[in-house]
Amino acid sequence: MMRSTLWMKWFSVLCLLCVWSVNASSAKLVFSEEGETVNALTLGVMKKQLLTHQIDIYDPQYKKNKRYLAFALHDVMALAYGKSWESKLSTDVKFVALDGYQAVSPFDKLLEQGGYIVYRDAEQPDWELIGHNQSNPGPFYMVWTGNKQTPKQAYPWPYQLAVIDTVEFKNQYPALYPQQVKETTNVFAGFKLFKDRCMKCHALDQQGGKVGPDLNAPMNILAYRSPEILREYIRQPSKFRYTQMPDHTDLSFQQIDSILEYLAYQGKAAKR
Ligand code: HEC
Repeated sequence: MMRSTLWMKWFSVLCLLCVWSVNASSAKLVFSEEGETVNALTLGVMKKQLLTHQIDIYDPQYKKNKRYLAFALHDVMALAYGKSWESKLSTDVKFVALDGYQAVSPFDKLLEQGGYIVYRDAEQPDWELIGHNQSNPGPFYMVWTGNKQTPKQAYPWPYQLAVIDTVEFKNQYPALYPQQVKETTNVFAGFKLFKDRCMKCHALDQQGGKVGPDLNAPMNILAYRSPEILREYIRQPSKFRYTQMPDHTDLSFQQIDSILEYLAYQGKAAKR
C-alpha cells in the first residue's frame, strides 16, 4: 500500500514535469469579444514580440514581496486586440481561469497604467502555490504595481489566467447603442458623450442611471422640450433651477447639439 502510493506520487510528479516542460512556451492566452475568440497568443510568441519587465511588488495575494517576469498589460492588449484597443467600446472584462473560475472587472481599470501579465516567478520558476486552494498560479497571473491597485480596491488579480473576454457595450446596453450609424457621424459623437457624461444618471428605455429622469421612455425628451431650451439647460442647469444635475460648461454647444441629435435618433429608433 505504502509503496504503491509513493510510486503514484513520483509518477504524477514526473507527469507534471513533462507537461510543464512541453507546455511552458506553448502556454496560451486566449482573447475574445463577447465569448468569440479574436486571438490566441502563446508564451513563445509573446516573448518574441513583447518586452519582458522584471517587476518587484508587494503581492497582496501572497502577502509578501515578490519578483516576477512579466509583460505590460497594455502591450499584451495591443498585440491581441490591435493598437486601438483603448478606444474599444467595452464595459467590462471577464477573466476566465484554467479551472473555469471567472471574475469580472470594469474595462476602464485596464486602461490605467500598472497592470502586468506575469509569466514567471523570478525566484521560483515552478511557481509558489497560491490561495486557500494552494493552486499553481501559472501559466499567466495578472498583477498590479500601484500600491492602491489591490484586489480590495476591485483591481483584477486573476491567476491561472486562460481567457480575457471583453464585454461589448452594444450587447450590454442595446437601447443606448445607436444601431446602423457610422462612427464618424454627429449621432455617434453624441452617443459617446452621453455614455461618458450622462448615462451614470440618465437611462434611455430604462437602461442606464436612475438619478435623473429617463430621457426616452415613455416619451423622448425632444417630444416635449424644445431643442433651444435643452441645449441651454444641459450646458448649465444651474441657470434654470436648484438641481442635482451638474453644469456641463466644459462642453461646447456643438457637442451638446450632437448629444441632442443622438437623443433624437434614439427616439426614432425606439419607434422603429
Ligand atoms: C449627477 C447626475 C446627472 C448627470 C451627470 C446628468 N444629469 Fe441630467 N438630470 C439629473 C437630474 C437629477 C435631473 C432631474 C432634475 C432636474 O431637471 O433638475 C436631470 C434632468 C435632465 C433633463 C430634463 C430637463 C427637464 O426639465 O425635463 C435633461 C434633458 C438632462 N438632464 C440631460 C442630461 C444630459 C444630456 C447629461 C449629460 C451631458 C446629463 N443630463 C447629466 C441628473 C444628472
